[in-house]
Amino acid sequence: MMAFKYVRTMMLLLLSSNNTTSHAIPHSNLKIPGAITTRYGSNTEQVNVPLYRTTVTDAMTASGPNTQSARVEAPKAASQSNSNMSCFSLGYGLSGPDCEYMAAIGMFDQGRNAIYNNGKIWLGGDGPNTFTFINGAGVPLILVMWYALFNDSTASFMNVRRPEITYSLPETGSAVEISAENEIPGGWSLLYNHSTPLSDYGQIWNTFGEFSTGTYATVDVSRLVNMAGNSVTVRVFTGEPAVDTTLQPVCVSDMRTCAYLCTSKSVRSCGATGTYQLLNCGGPNSVEGIDEHGNPTGGCQGWTNGGHIEVIFL
Ligand SMILES: *[C@@H]1O[C@H](CO)[C@@H](O)[C@H](O)[C@H]1NC(C)=O
Ligand SMILES: *[C@@H]1O[C@H](CO)[C@@H](O)[C@H](O)[C@H]1NC(C)=O
Ligand SMILES: *[C@@H]1O[C@H](CO)[C@@H](O)[C@H](O)[C@H]1NC(C)=O
Repeated sequence: MMAFKYVRTMMLLLLSSNNTTSHAIPHSNLKIPGAITTRYGSNTEQVNVPLYRTTVTDAMTASGPNTQSARVEAPKAASQSNSNMSCFSLGYGLSGPDCEYMAAIGMFDQGRNAIYNNGKIWLGGDGPNTFTFINGAGVPLILVMWYALFNDSTASFMNVRRPEITYSLPETGSAVEISAENEIPGGWSLLYNHSTPLSDYGQIWNTFGEFSTGTYATVDVSRLVNMAGNSVTVRVFTGEPAVDTTLQPVCVSDMRTCAYLCTSKSVRSCGATGTYQLLNCGGPNSVEGIDEHGNPTGGCQGWTNGGHIEVIFL
């Protein structure tokens, strides 16, 4: 049985109002724990710090900028890609030209694009957490989504790692619904109009979304990799029983709300301790905190153990 919705041509507005997720009153008592002990899979215990694992920060902290750039070969030009990626067989939802573009910028591989519940991140609306990604940009977009364990410093480095999802959103109104299991940390970015490259470190040179599902479900927009990236709006709907049918999100993160920005206005990207801030994240269902390194942490909550996230690329 086809478990996924294929809504490529559905209109933006129609899709937004077609949202059937239930919406509840905001949590009144949100907390952001400094360190969370949780379980992934059957027996793996891990510390799950909700945010800040998918930018340059962690990798640079782990290995230093020099070894980072030495380890990671940046795509200098499309023709010099060292990718082994094949576009002979395409994942569900990925077009041939989009795959060729990904290979040309040096991406390591296509996404897995699982069309069944793989316990992580898959195409379809049957998971406890669902994301609807919508092209509102008027140009072809490629959604890229990865799985990022807390201690995995290269998860978002698309020159060396295989993403979970790479999906074509060719025109305004193109959309895809993606599920995530609870206690799944991950992120996404987008390739805009066949013009977004990878950064010198191998991350997608654009705006990121970051999330962690489950007990401390949180989502945010990060502009640390590229402060001049494309715009996005992330709207959070709770998965709790409907007590409110107004279809209002319980929290919103966008380019200046619950968003991570470099503190200095003169840098194009940042990520080291003390170089970035979390902006305007004090509203309902949003949390701001300080992590063990003194860096800001937090984002949009209100979707504990299940909810719906609507992401509109502008
Ligand atoms: C491509 O495959 C070759 C042979 O398996 C390997 O040596 C090389 O490291 C691979 N390149 C990348 C970018 O993975
Ligand atoms: C991350 O943590 C998990 C669980 O503790 C472990 O299995 C895995 O090897 C770790 N990965 C790295 C890169 O340290
Ligand atoms: C998108 O790419 C096309 C083809 O290169 C170009 O003509 C157009 O101006 C681009 N649009 C935007 C908004 O970047």
